[in-house]
Amino acid sequence: MTFLLISDLDHTWVGDAVALDTLHRQLDTHRHRVCLIYATGRSRASALDLQSEVGLMEPDYWITAVGSEIYSPQGLDQAWSEHLSRDWHRETVAVIAEEFQDLIPQSEREQNPWKISFCLAPEGSPSVIEQLQAKLRQAGVMAQLIFSSGRDLDLLPVASNKGNASRYLAQRLGFAPEQTLVCGDSGNDISLFETEARGVIVNNAQPELLAWYHAQGQPYHYHAQSGYAAGILEAIAYFGFLED
Ligand code: GLC
Ligand code: MG
Repeated sequence: MTFLLISDLDHTWVGDAVALDTLHRQLDTHRHRVCLIYATGRSRASALDLQSEVGLMEPDYWITAVGSEIYSPQGLDQAWSEHLSRDWHRETVAVIAEEFQDLIPQSEREQNPWKISFCLAPEGSPSVIEQLQAKLRQAGVMAQLIFSSGRDLDLLPVASNKGNASRYLAQRLGFAPEQTLVCGDSGNDISLFETEARGVIVNNAQPELLAWYHAQGQPYHYHAQSGYAAGILEAIAYFGFLED
């Protein structure tokens, strides 16, 4: 295999059904040389629901719940889970975060042993995130805070996130950054662009990712003119990934 394609699902891979169909067909033609990984914020159960709703092609691996879980065809990657469990005190983090009234817990289905997720209350201010960060620091507990789409707040072990999970899999599978394309649209995708892989920011990206791109984007990051899967197709052609 010569091409590692790692993509977020909601509002990146999924969102333009016609373009997705073209992308699926292009990848089907080259299936033997592509390793496909979905890297989503959704839980495994919710990602599988999306897969059947929109008819997503079967990936080789799943990075779910913002990098807090990795699934191969053999099931949950236990080595990754053990790696995340070091220096992670879930209960302490949860108790501190629950004191903030502007943070509303997401459904049980989106929580897991390495991820605690909230929504910012509609009238709440994002400054609550800095306050929470400060509280955690004072208490001496380590956690990573990721804010996406002006609404979702994920608390994860420091070693987690989509970028770290992607790097772990790419190294294990033997793909170099030049053979890898990462695709995203929102805050939980920023870590994907912090790896050295080639990257595409789809045109419909959220302000927090665009702000990151303008401040810290690299020459190997491509801001597509099209949105969703059409942006991915544009980037595959731009970087020449499926040319021989
Ligand atoms: C997905 C997940 C949610 C998470 C969000 C941002 O929507 O379902 O739990 O907060 O992505 O990462
Ligand atoms: Mg997304």
